[in-house]
Amino acid sequence: MAENQEPVHYETYLQLEKILGAQKLRSEAFSSKPAHDETLFIIIHQVYELWFKQIIHELRAVLDMFNQDQVDERNIGKAVANLDRVIEIQKILIQQIRVLETMTSQDFLEFRGLLFPASGFQSFQFRLVEVMLGLKEQHRATYGKVRYTDFFTASQKEQLKEIENGQSLLEAVTAWLERTPFLSLENFDFLEEYEKAVNSMIESERKAINDNQDMSSEERDMRLGMIAENEDFFNRILDHQQYQTLLKDGVVKLSYKGALAALLINLYQDEPILQMPYNLLQRLITIDELFTTWRYRHAQMTMNLLGKKPGTGGSSGHDYLLKTAASHHVFKDFHNITTLLVPRSSLPELPQGVKKELGFYFTQKTKADNH
Ligand code: HEM
Repeated sequence: MAENQEPVHYETYLQLEKILGAQKLRSEAFSSKPAHDETLFIIIHQVYELWFKQIIHELRAVLDMFNQDQVDERNIGKAVANLDRVIEIQKILIQQIRVLETMTSQDFLEFRGLLFPASGFQSFQFRLVEVMLGLKEQHRATYGKVRYTDFFTASQKEQLKEIENGQSLLEAVTAWLERTPFLSLENFDFLEEYEKAVNSMIESERKAINDNQDMSSEERDMRLGMIAENEDFFNRILDHQQYQTLLKDGVVKLSYKGALAALLINLYQDEPILQMPYNLLQRLITIDELFTTWRYRHAQMTMNLLGKKPGTGGSSGHDYLLKTAASHHVFKDFHNITTLLVPRSSLPELPQGVKKELGFYFTQKTKADNH
């Protein structure tokens, strides 16, 4: 124990008096009979807010590492560990919905009328998580003329705007990807080599279809058409101009340089120095996916408990929540890179010099060195 350190008690350290005294039932204050399930309703929301606080804490740590001119490569492993923690918390957030669903619709209606116009819309921490990840106002599903910031104080609005204007994880990771040296490796034109591998993969897919004698000409045409459509995705990344147009139209959000670096990391994910960057991109995809899962489960729970009733916050309820689940993706461009992958076996071999640049160097002492 450090000098002058007072002994601490479990209850005071955790400030349990405050936390356990923070469940005030509206049904007790404003109706003749306290509603049994209101306690569960309050506790679940409070637990969510505590977990949001922890997620924000982890995301801040990751942002601090990435918002540097030079990201120390050793920090990538730490960032992955922070994001792993976020992922485990998200799994709990999804599971928790089951606990709330032990409440029936009629039990909920006993106190729901006392909650207007409070709503999850007003959760500042939830919005903070969304903007810290990189969700922009122009990409949000909306209802009426309500802005997502309308419910917050001036200083909260300021905080959200500041992060939205360039300090999110998506932007920080994009800037880091753009700075990676992998794209300008000596004597190795990545894009040219990649194009060759893509063409050979597509050609062999076409050949397999054309050679298949059991296929009707109708089915063959349909399948060849699908391959041609799929080829468009490759053309996007192979043609800088086309990619810039898509970026301008908002079809993609990741810069061209960022997209190329992410593609290279995915293709050469087995190279030792690319393993951590690959893990990082995978974690971002998982976080997006788990938030989407939470949004769908929350919408489904709303349907179970409210049906098509409008929400206490003034939206259409279930339909609005489904829209957010379908559209509030942040790291979709990283996810879509999967479409652009080619088999390991047809990947152009990296020249030795490039491998050396990418690889870790464990200089083993040879026998000769020992003499
Ligand atoms: C009885 C359980 C619940 C019901 C019926 C319910 C219903 C709704 C509805 C209808 C909305 C749409 C906004 C509105 O018009 O009010 C909404 C939004 C929201 N709810 Fe819930 N909710 C429940 C529990 C929870 C819990 C436990 C959380 C955890 C914090 C939560 C977080 C949110 C958030 C963050 C939003 C905003 C979503 C967005 O705009 O993307 N809700 N909820």
